[in-house]
Amino acid sequence: MDPVLNPYAPGAGTPPPELAGRDDLREKVRIAIARLRRGLQAKSVLMVGLRGVGKTVLLDRMRDDARANGVQTIRIEAPEGRSLPALLAPQLRQALLALSRNLRARDLAQRGLRALAGFAKSLKLKYEDIEVGLDFDPEPGLADNGDLEHDLQALLETAGQAAASADTALAMFIDELQHVKEDELAALITAMHRCAQQRLPIVLVGAGLPQLPGRMGRAKSYAERLFDFPEVGPLNATAARLAIIKPAHAQGVDFTEPAVAALSEDAGLPLLSAGVGQTRLGPRDVFADPARRRCRGFGYSHRGIGREFLSRALRPPDAGREALPARHGGIGPGAAPLRRHR
Ligand SMILES: Nc1ncnc2c1ncn2[C@@H]1O[C@H](COP(=O)(O)OP(=O)(O)OP(=O)(O)O)[C@@H](O)[C@H]1O
Ligand SMILES: [Mg+2]
Repeated sequence: MDPVLNPYAPGAGTPPPELAGRDDLREKVRIAIARLRRGLQAKSVLMVGLRGVGKTVLLDRMRDDARANGVQTIRIEAPEGRSLPALLAPQLRQALLALSRNLRARDLAQRGLRALAGFAKSLKLKYEDIEVGLDFDPEPGLADNGDLEHDLQALLETAGQAAASADTALAMFIDELQHVKEDELAALITAMHRCAQQRLPIVLVGAGLPQLPGRMGRAKSYAERLFDFPEVGPLNATAARLAIIKPAHAQGVDFTEPAVAALSEDAGLPLLSAGVGQTRLGPRDVFADPARRRCRGFGYSHRGIGREFLSRALRPPDAGREALPARHGGIGPGAAPLRRHR
């Protein structure tokens, strides 16, 4: 495959050329947001899955879906060592500023910005990493108690009201949610619960490792009823095939059937399937001496993936070891090479 035209782009959070097999989850989130927008009840969705299975790219695609429907979105990745209020504040500011440009939502969005000012000022002592531009003065008594659980609730309520007055919803996409400290998770859960009780159009779409539901449950025992925790699993056989076949096909290249079969067997983990494209086979490699090329081609590809996958899977402190494919690091499945189609 011409490296310049190689459509595959494996890597952490890199959008794949073909986001295969995730339509049901995308639809689930689309419906939840659409319901909330109409003032109907819907659960927030927190997706759970092993390292490299495709959570981040799915989250980003869902965000694109939401934006295309006119939903106000924020996007956060929770790294270790940063506080949730510090991550949320600048993003909420952007969302509230955007809402304030809508005439119908202006007053409530500005109230949201006042709440944000109270929130940031009163919590700055405890969460020193909060850095956010303040566009308005705080309103005394609004989100300024200095208690995260109370103030986050007040802040999200005002943001939800602003979104409602703009006939839209506010969707908060948070990746790596398992990194958020338990007391901060508890505050987030309480705030979402309160907003749900008021049917405010604000929703959390999160992603995290399999320990996330347990952490949420420990933070607030009712979290398990408040949220949906769908699993992002390996791609099923049909989706894995699509993820492999379609991008090459669009470039006028088809894999042989044994190659697809062998690759998609491993490719339940999308990182591996996307990684197929890392093979450095040039046209000459493909056509001459198929037996040798095929070992070289796929051996190369799989070793590359093995290293990347290993370094990510063992990234401390998340114990992602269970994500390691049994055959990682070995050479590839020994599949047949690419063949051109016209
Ligand atoms: N549905 C899919 N179809 C094809 N390729 C995919 C799919 N989902 C993910 N990928 C590819 O798999 C790789 C890993 O995806 P991603 O980074 O989203 O995983 P992750 O679950 O967020 O991993 P981590 O837990 O390490 O953050 C990326 O190269 C991505 O393009
Ligand atoms: Mg990720």
